[in-house]
Amino acid sequence: MIFVTRKSHFNAAHRLYNPEKSDEWNYRVYGKCSHPNWHGHNYTLEVVVAGEPNPETGYVIDLGKLKQIIEKVIIQRCDHKNLNLDVSFLQGVIPTTENLVEAFFNELKEPVEDAASDGALLYAVKLYETERNFAEYCPYSRI
Ligand code: NI
Repeated sequence: MIFVTRKSHFNAAHRLYNPEKSDEWNYRVYGKCSHPNWHGHNYTLEVVVAGEPNPETGYVIDLGKLKQIIEKVIIQRCDHKNLNLDVSFLQGVIPTTENLVEAFFNELKEPVEDAASDGALLYAVKLYETERNFAEYCPYSRI
């Protein structure tokens, strides 16, 4: 099994806020991340594809194609946007790093696997909110 990764960047605003809870609850849980007038992050996104190389091309996935898919599916929809308000597939999602990696994985799965070699899988999506804080969604991992 070979793991191929493409790294991308985007900038976006968000607010951590659960609309079903009081402002007091939100401030207690999320602190300044619940500030009503938003704040921004410089996100780094890593998309990992796992499989065997196609015998004709030697590729698990053409990284140029993977770049285009990430651009179209994630970057164009999220870059310089407000993740709470502007992104259709994030409606109703509290935009924590955890929730974002799962939503991004679900958006990417079909187009990535269509472009990859036979049997290859979208294996994991990793999102860095800061250099030190990141989350990874990998549905094939078992603890
Ligand atoms: Ni934040």
